[in-house]
Amino acid sequence: YNAWLSYPKLQQGPLYKQYAKWCGAVSVTEGGETLQAALQEWTRGIASLLDLEAVSKPQPEEFGVAFGTFTGGHPLIQGLFEDKTVQSVGAEGFAIRTSQSRKCIAVGASSQAGVLYGVFHLLRLIASGKDIENLDEVVNPVNSLRMINHWDNFDGSVERGYSGRSFLYENNQFTKDMDRITDYARLMSTAGINAIAINNVNVHALETLFISTYLPDVARIADIFRIYGIRLFLCVNFAGPMHEGEVGTADPLDAGVQEWWKSRAADIYAAIPDFGGFVVKADSENRPGPFTYGRNHADGANMLAEALEPYGGIVIWRCFVYNCKQDWRDRKTDRARAAYDHFRPLDGQFHDNVILQIKNGPMDFQVREPVSPLFGALERTNQVIEFQIAQEYTGQQRHVCYLVPQWKEIMEFDTQAKGGTAPVKRIVDGSLWGNRLSGIAAVSNVGNDRNWTGHLLSQANLYGFGRLAWNPELSAEEIAAEWIALTFGTDTAVAGVISRILLDSWEIYESYTSPLGVGWMINPEHHYGPNVDGYEYSMWGTYHYADHQGIGVDRTVATGTGYSAQYMGSNAVRYDSLEDCPDELLLFFHHVPYTHVLHSGKTVIQHIYDTHFEGAERAEGLLDAWGGLKGSIADGLYTQVEERLKGQAAHAKEWRDQINTYFYRKSGIADALGRTIY
Ligand code: GCU
Repeated sequence: YNAWLSYPKLQQGPLYKQYAKWCGAVSVTEGGETLQAALQEWTRGIASLLDLEAVSKPQPEEFGVAFGTFTGGHPLIQGLFEDKTVQSVGAEGFAIRTSQSRKCIAVGASSQAGVLYGVFHLLRLIASGKDIENLDEVVNPVNSLRMINHWDNFDGSVERGYSGRSFLYENNQFTKDMDRITDYARLMSTAGINAIAINNVNVHALETLFISTYLPDVARIADIFRIYGIRLFLCVNFAGPMHEGEVGTADPLDAGVQEWWKSRAADIYAAIPDFGGFVVKADSENRPGPFTYGRNHADGANMLAEALEPYGGIVIWRCFVYNCKQDWRDRKTDRARAAYDHFRPLDGQFHDNVILQIKNGPMDFQVREPVSPLFGALERTNQVIEFQIAQEYTGQQRHVCYLVPQWKEIMEFDTQAKGGTAPVKRIVDGSLWGNRLSGIAAVSNVGNDRNWTGHLLSQANLYGFGRLAWNPELSAEEIAAEWIALTFGTDTAVAGVISRILLDSWEIYESYTSPLGVGWMINPEHHYGPNVDGYEYSMWGTYHYADHQGIGVDRTVATGTGYSAQYMGSNAVRYDSLEDCPDELLLFFHHVPYTHVLHSGKTVIQHIYDTHFEGAERAEGLLDAWGGLKGSIADGLYTQVEERLKGQAAHAKEWRDQINTYFYRKSGIADALGRTIY
């Protein structure tokens, strides 16, 4: 339950002595609920890590720690940081310094939230066994918006939720368990999150009233989030004005509609002065939007932006817009093209408090997709990238799939925008185009399960997302190591095993499920488990076109949908070329015969067989590796993961056999190694 706030007890030894020396006394002189929360976190952490009661002192005479803002009047904070340091700390950053002469480790920041981040940073250093004798650094978050999107519904269900039900709502009522909300806010802020949208992007009837009838309930949650430096956002229904029967239309250019949103905004800010803003899914998967009135997405987003603008609120407008009623016989329409085709022409037309939220890939959070070509194509528009921490297509938190390596790969992708090196991370942090607003959002994977995420190892994705949003330069290994130390302690043998499991898991999952970038070979609707033709004759635009000769989607310019041309520079050329297209995305861009030879030297069909046999074996290997930890970690933690890994190993075999059998029957080509295919 405490996840990365478990603070596992440290072993006695030289480091323990060092920590005990510094951590016995703590000095905080400012009031303020955020600073008090930081102090509480510290006291709790030290008590658990070191078995030490941190004594609060106005000014420790002996060794101690001091926390405060630069303007808070604490003499040690004022004395220990030079002006130059103070100036380099941004709104949410912090400075941390060990002074041997003053016998003090000081955490100073511009804001109380910054102090909270700094205090947790110090706790993390201690929990991971780092030396704290000579600290001297300034740490600022790279991304200004670090956001979690809940897909929780008011009835208590969670869309694509794999960790039980919602802990925010049940039975069309807000939770009364404010302790859980507080613990959630603690978890999120210590991972670096500063914005949370608390309801599903698909806004149903009652959730439409969150901005009116239910505002007092929403405000109670915002009051807790505020303590932890988190701004609350709401998903809104674009047709809200009609829903409440007050206005007969939702046309964004209608004066009555504009007034309605303005008056809602006034009410919201009266209740929640630091309200973040709206998240909007419009004209997408049957949600209402401006298209109904012959208006475009800029008209829709700007109208909402005007309502929020006087209060500093923002509109986060999602780009997940495509035709979800496609005829599978129609070979011209390509869903992958949709976001770019809709939004690129609108570049420059959005108000500066609008942010476009773009899914990482052109389809929908598949195990493997190329990066959305919209990144780099919008030169004058604020934008955030949207990841999915919830493992909708990556094992639904029954399989382990550590997603940080996937997110890293996406962030490092060079879009070649502006004619030079332009990785996605420089677009979403706002530096490439000088955006005022920018950042990273992700769909949450939490629920009311005791351990928050169903699969214990999925906590690493939640923590990892926050850390990566804070600093995209952290490696997947470093983030895993932090999470492991905070959760399981500093035993290096244990850490080695868990780290290996995490770091291999995406590749393993990909190998027994989805070969060469093909995607969508899953059961319709719930999306769990193998079904090669599950989406083949559907209206969702998600096809692989497998027949007895070959498989893949031709997205080339000459013979296909032309999607490859949405990329810039050598990316467009590489993806378009059958010879140069990277193996892992081959079937996303090209339709090829099963006998096509990959860069690896294998044929496509042999690659499918080999990866599926190997993948299932490696899934079994994860279970074996975990088995080696029995006795070295707490029984409760051990058994819950063991159970899931058993399920994964068994289910990986099901994937292996269904996929291999399907392609063997289609192609008639035998496995070169003669293994059993049914
Ligand atoms: C996916 C997911 C839906 C969700 C949608 C979205 O299609 O399956 O449940 O509503 O994405 O991001 O809006």
